[in-house]
Amino acid sequence: MITQRPKGTQDWYGAQMHKRTIIEAAARKICKAYNIKEIITPAFEHTILFQRGVGETTDVVQKEMYTFEDKGHRSITLKPEGTAGAVRAYLENGLFAESQPTKLFYITQAFRYENPQSGRLRQHHQFGIEFFGSASPLAEVELITLLTEFMKDIGLKGANLHINSIGCKNCRKTYNEALLTFLRQHEEHLCSTCKERMQKNPLRVLDCKVPSCNEIVKDAPRTIEYLDDECKSHFDELQSLLNELGISYQVDTGIVRGLDYYTKTVFEFVNADGFTLCGGGRYDGLIHEIDEKQDIPAVGFGFGIERIINELEAEGVELEQEPSIQLYVGILGKEAKASAYKIVHQLRNAGVIVETDYLDRSVKAQMKYANKIGAKNTVIIGADELSNNTARVKNMETGEQTEVALDKLVEYFL
Ligand code: HAM
Repeated sequence: MITQRPKGTQDWYGAQMHKRTIIEAAARKICKAYNIKEIITPAFEHTILFQRGVGETTDVVQKEMYTFEDKGHRSITLKPEGTAGAVRAYLENGLFAESQPTKLFYITQAFRYENPQSGRLRQHHQFGIEFFGSASPLAEVELITLLTEFMKDIGLKGANLHINSIGCKNCRKTYNEALLTFLRQHEEHLCSTCKERMQKNPLRVLDCKVPSCNEIVKDAPRTIEYLDDECKSHFDELQSLLNELGISYQVDTGIVRGLDYYTKTVFEFVNADGFTLCGGGRYDGLIHEIDEKQDIPAVGFGFGIERIINELEAEGVELEQEPSIQLYVGILGKEAKASAYKIVHQLRNAGVIVETDYLDRSVKAQMKYANKIGAKNTVIIGADELSNNTARVKNMETGEQTEVALDKLVEYFL
């Protein structure tokens, strides 16, 4: 037990860590070009933020949150997603008072008590963006183009864009009536949570993970048939912008998303097996819900980093290798240690990737080690090399040896 990590969590090291670093670097690079600034919010927030933000009737709030009372008797929750915290920070720090829009990105951990199966972790990581202050479908388009370019950059090819509109509060009234009429006909076969959801928020039934509920809602009325004029024209404009930009998509009237804050556009990038890699959408009512003095439109997405890695592996994408060790500096004799290490230090300061001996190994064992760690070159520094200011650099691939002055080693490797 003591040496076992909790179920649904992962240690990051070696090849997986390297992949994650590449993905995060690609995320930061593309956000820079789009002038989107990074934000880091706390790993935990007051529970009420998620209850209000994500929604009382969602699976996330009802079943999946890591909630505890802290020593000051406050109810605290580990963040199950990134949006609510970003919205709280946007409001608390008065970012809305600056010239709008405000475009923020985050790379965060998120905690959900889920059954750890098929790509569901209890601690996962998301690259997400929240775009505050624009009601225009161009904001959705910006996120979708960025995602398309981001996936191209890391080599993902198999994700397809699915879009839908779930309308606004106004459309929801007429839609809920139609949905309830449908659900009442099947009520006896719905799970107990869904029976409760019918009373409080019928849309949530569409997103239930229980297979029998899933089967029933396949024939439920679709939100897209109940859009008011404004929501309909927003969705039409979004589609014509995507068409003009040559971004392919499919309208998928089955997407409702699992969180309560969405209005109008919802979208997902889905792989060839129909598995969701990335999800997002517009949430024009959330800011007002959290702070009634403000009424600001917003749109965003979250892309699971573990899901990106799985998809890269499934598609057989080769990521850039970790840079190899350019030079192994072997140390011969105790008296050479400090001077040799000084040279190691100078090389590293100049940006050369260098390894050396920390275990007082014999020269033979050091060379074996250098070979094992894939050092491209080796050099041995002992008393003779130091007094002659010269050493022999061996190219490990060709076996070729070159005499280099010790004070010219940095230049040799640059
Ligand atoms: P979400 O769909 O709940 O949306 O999560 C976004 C992405 O995070 C998913 O598409 C998936 O890649 C990943 N993800 C979610 N749960 C897990 C899990 N248990 N294990 C592994 N990966 C997971 C949100 O969280 C919204 N905050 C997205 C958003 C931002 N909407 C607007 N702004």
